[in-house]
Amino acid sequence: MILCVTLNAAVDKTYIVEGFRAGEIFRVKEVQVLPGGKGINVARAIRVLGGDVLATGFIGGHNGAFIEERLAAEGIPSDFVQIPAESRLTVSIIDPINSSETGLYEQGPAVCAEDWERFKEHFAVLLEKAEIAILSGSLPRGLAADAYAELIEMARGTGCSVILDTSGEALKTGLAAHPWLIKPNRSEAEGLLERPLEGVSAVVEGIKKLLADGQEAVAISLGKDGVIGGCGYGIWRVRAPQVHAASSVGAGDAFVAGFTLAWLRKGDFAEALRYGTACAAASVTRVGAGMLSPSDVEYLSRTIKAEKIT
Ligand SMILES: Nc1ncnc2c1ncn2[C@@H]1O[C@H](COP(=O)(O)OP(=O)(O)OP(=O)(O)O)[C@@H](O)[C@H]1O
Ligand SMILES: [Mg+2]
Repeated sequence: MILCVTLNAAVDKTYIVEGFRAGEIFRVKEVQVLPGGKGINVARAIRVLGGDVLATGFIGGHNGAFIEERLAAEGIPSDFVQIPAESRLTVSIIDPINSSETGLYEQGPAVCAEDWERFKEHFAVLLEKAEIAILSGSLPRGLAADAYAELIEMARGTGCSVILDTSGEALKTGLAAHPWLIKPNRSEAEGLLERPLEGVSAVVEGIKKLLADGQEAVAISLGKDGVIGGCGYGIWRVRAPQVHAASSVGAGDAFVAGFTLAWLRKGDFAEALRYGTACAAASVTRVGAGMLSPSDVEYLSRTIKAEKIT
């Protein structure tokens, strides 16, 4: 089973508003409400693609109950730790006319030391059945920056591989605990390496540095430019196919979902990068993070190649 961790789960509300501008009132004709937060988005895409997944993390209040109910309705198995405070609401406003996306993301509830202890006990039990654990998104308030590092150490103890997809200090301290793969986007990787990563050669150099420093596998996603990823067997570039973009929110999560499934099915790193890119592109054509159609993935993946760089 693939375990997807979302420590700051959300009710993810998307408004479609033509000609949206700040400072005015708009009547919203189209609303989409989904359980969200990065690990949940990953779980959704894995589920749609037929993978065996379990979503976990913290949920609380009415929003937490909504997240749990709607995940069940989507057929996504979940097993969360309850906290007393309300899970957050994230609002995205998509304007199809100007192709803009605006986000209003609540911070979410604070997690106390006792909640964290309860989560770790819960995580230890879930790890017994997990082949791979995916730790995605920002940390809730109240947790130390090394929270992911703690989970990575626990997973190592059971032989479960970890994919870490986060940013800032959580990524820096998480990296020090050596997850199997990290998947920063360009700006997250720039923050991690403390240098600009413009152009393919700078990204490749960045990956070489991370591998030389002891990281096992890295995939740096570059938005519509695709992804460059490397491990002990080499470094590959996969260009993203051109698609009509409806919403790029969660593209990275769809990439992680596809990458993980292909890796577990075939054990081939280049193929995992390729399939992840197909899933990410398929998700970009749909509104709703982690939403994609397997037939789009099938169609797109025929045109996508992994080019070996070194
Ligand atoms: N416009 C696009 N067209 C095709 N593919 C895209 C486009 N934007 C993103 N992708 C695909 O999605 C992958 C992830 O995108 P990106 O680098 O923006 O991730 P991200 O910033 O982590 O996204 P998020 O955190 O919102 O999920 C890219 O590597 C690429 O394969
Ligand atoms: Mg991301």
